[in-house]
Amino acid sequence: MQNFTYWNPTKLIFGKGQLQQLKEEVPKYGNKVLLVYGGGSIKKSGLYDQVISLLKEVNVAIFELSGVEPNPRISTVRKGVDICKSEGIDFILAVGGGSVIDCTKAIAAGAKYDGDAWDLVTKKAFASQALPFGTVLTLAATGSEMNSGSVITNWETKEKYGWGSPVTFPTFSILDPVHTYTVPKNQTIYGIVDMMSHVFEHYFHLQENTLLQDRMCESLLITVMETAPKLLEDLENYDLRATILYNGTMALNGMLSMGYQGDWATHNIEHAVSAVYDIPHGGGLAILFPNWMKHNLHVKPERFKQLAVRVFGIDPEGKSAEEVGLEGIEKLREFWNSIGAPARLADYDIDDSQLEVMADKAMINGEFGRFKKLNKEDVLAIYRASL
Ligand code: NZQ
Ligand code: ZN
Repeated sequence: MQNFTYWNPTKLIFGKGQLQQLKEEVPKYGNKVLLVYGGGSIKKSGLYDQVISLLKEVNVAIFELSGVEPNPRISTVRKGVDICKSEGIDFILAVGGGSVIDCTKAIAAGAKYDGDAWDLVTKKAFASQALPFGTVLTLAATGSEMNSGSVITNWETKEKYGWGSPVTFPTFSILDPVHTYTVPKNQTIYGIVDMMSHVFEHYFHLQENTLLQDRMCESLLITVMETAPKLLEDLENYDLRATILYNGTMALNGMLSMGYQGDWATHNIEHAVSAVYDIPHGGGLAILFPNWMKHNLHVKPERFKQLAVRVFGIDPEGKSAEEVGLEGIEKLREFWNSIGAPARLADYDIDDSQLEVMADKAMINGEFGRFKKLNKEDVLAIYRASL
């Protein structure tokens, strides 16, 4: 295990009826609030009206930025930055899924930066200051509600990058499982795949002696796999929604990665696909992750074996570590198939015409991945296996 410092300043407010806490939290940060939301799901569910009425009760001035896209665009970030600068916004409230929260992080940092916010995303400049912001999460998936990461797309140049800074943690996040009841089945599946993938990105590392971390990762995976099939049959079940929501946050709030660093290559490979084809992040991961695993099984077969035995219940008797590992990867594919996740790029009508373009985008900063450094040939091999 490596030395580490764990710091996560986000106040997590979880459970039924917790939206009321907005009245306590928001006024702490000023009285001009920019409300950021997506394409309208919060209006349909009634959450928008509830948020507005609570904000009015505490007499804050409300400004709005709506229409944040899934795979949020830098063009929308710029609109938000303009509002913050011209109106002197004190606090931003994101109400939505990972895209709305990620967009809000870029707006918050962009509002305190003199140049174009794209500089922060491309790391040409470092975000050293940001407006404070809070979130009301409506979709269990990314963990953005309790981490400092943000992923922004530039649709003109077909680029999608992750970035972050210690100043881009939410000050608070309100997670009421009831707010996730209306998430449609397909988005629920993508979220489940995304949170499982976050655990896999952690799990495949080269550090020794991470016994507790391994067990925590395995426990998250087992819990999600036990819960997901039941939830997909019963989308308005409070307890099942709560379990998945809590898992999503714990999978990417830094708790799993104390003492080591994960791989994160598959996320990079997926972001290059969704930059070009605008597919849902979780859908892309479902297609790519088992193929990344097969491609890298030889690197440390014992690690794949451990996952296969402990999480997928594979019997190791009389088999090599690679054989057991491979059976585990196949079980993962079966599980994702069983819940209705996509398995091939062809499921999104993606053929081999842009593989080079996507591989070049994934390679923009050179070789990547900590468990196994991938070069362009590796990336192309994973894309080809995913066709
Ligand atoms: O826009 P609205 O109308 O709100 O609809 C959204 C959107 O169409 C809908 N939705 C959200 N909550 C709902 C709901 N529909 C009905 N009822 C609700 N309660 O779901 C659709 C997808 O929303 P989105 O926010 O895009 O999904 P997700 O949370 O999966 O976020 C995906 C984005 O996060 C990035 C991805 O790359 C992608 O851009 N990621 C961010 C990470 C981070 N910041 O840590 C890590 C992740 O690995 C990921 O890369
Ligand atoms: Zn992800």
